Amino acid sequence: MAKALKEKVLSLKMLSHSVFRMSIESEYISSTALPGQFVNIKCGDGINNILRRPISICGVDRQKGTFDIAFQVRGKGTRLLSEYSGEDLIDLTGPLGNSFSLPHTLIPQKHSKVAAVGGGIGIFPLLFLLKEMNNAEKHAYLGFRDCRSMVMVEDFREVTDKLLISTDDGSAGYKGAVTDLFEQHIKTWDKPDIIYACGPVPMLRKIVSIAQAHDIMCQVSMEQRMGCGIGACLVCVCATRQDDGWKYSRVCKDGPVFWGQDVIFEE
Ligand SMILES: Cc1cc2nc3c(=O)[nH]c(=O)nc-3n(C[C@H](O)[C@H](O)[C@H](O)COP(=O)(O)OP(=O)(O)OC[C@H]3O[C@@H](n4cnc5c(N)ncnc54)[C@H](O)[C@@H]3O)c2cc1C
Ligand code: FES
Repeated sequence: MAKALKEKVLSLKMLSHSVFRMSIESEYISSTALPGQFVNIKCGDGINNILRRPISICGVDRQKGTFDIAFQVRGKGTRLLSEYSGEDLIDLTGPLGNSFSLPHTLIPQKHSKVAAVGGGIGIFPLLFLLKEMNNAEKHAYLGFRDCRSMVMVEDFREVTDKLLISTDDGSAGYKGAVTDLFEQHIKTWDKPDIIYACGPVPMLRKIVSIAQAHDIMCQVSMEQRMGCGIGACLVCVCATRQDDGWKYSRVCKDGPVFWGQDVIFEE
């Protein structure tokens, strides 16, 4: 159950020119959050900050009672967030949304092969997910704009068996889209049992089509503009399949994680 909380910021670290990682003390979030869930943050005071900003939980330390978020400065809200410092109190609601299904709940008694594909800010929830997985061979594919935008690479290396990077300009790793890197690599690797993906919509659409072409289970986490974050305002809806038709699903409450084949991606 989500709670409204005021928690202490422990640290704020700059990871690249626009990305920050914040560590927050919270017994409640650290003990209840599941991979894929997010917190909704009131970044500041005043009329511009009435709407909270959704940010994924990218890791928890249950022993210390802390959790981490990582965020890219995009506009007013995230800029204010980047100005917090240790000891400040942060106003947040969480944990919110559903979570990824861990492989052992889908394929019991099997050492599964897992692929996590992330682009840009979509990599952050995947770190928490990969950390929580046992009994799986874990491959991660991370896409960045260029080598200056690469963040958390060592964190991912620690929790994966194989890590592959792509950059749009080829300044590090594979040159091109992370979806192309992934598509090429699964031809040389026994196909994974499940794909988890988070990133921009065109990336997710491509990943779902790859998953369908290879008959692989696939879960995607959707990034959508949000209002209330608790299922009341319908700002965040996306179209999903239902029986022979379709319906609107709320990314904040029914998601953010959906089975790939259920999402109707707009062209
Ligand atoms: C479930 C969920 C989890 C998210 N997790 C993270 C995370 O872990 N780290 C992170 O950096 N960001 C994450 N985001 C995106 C983040 O919420 C937005 O970047 C943030 O709300 C922008 O607020 P702002 O006030 O700084 O920018 P605004 O001034 O509101 O907007 C600036 C720019 O950001 C774009 N933007 C605004 N909201 C979103 C959104 N929800 N998704 C994508 N683009 C958006 C706008 O189109 C605009 O171009 C997540 C979004 C969702 C829905
Ligand atoms: S943000 Fe209000 S219903 Fe999802």
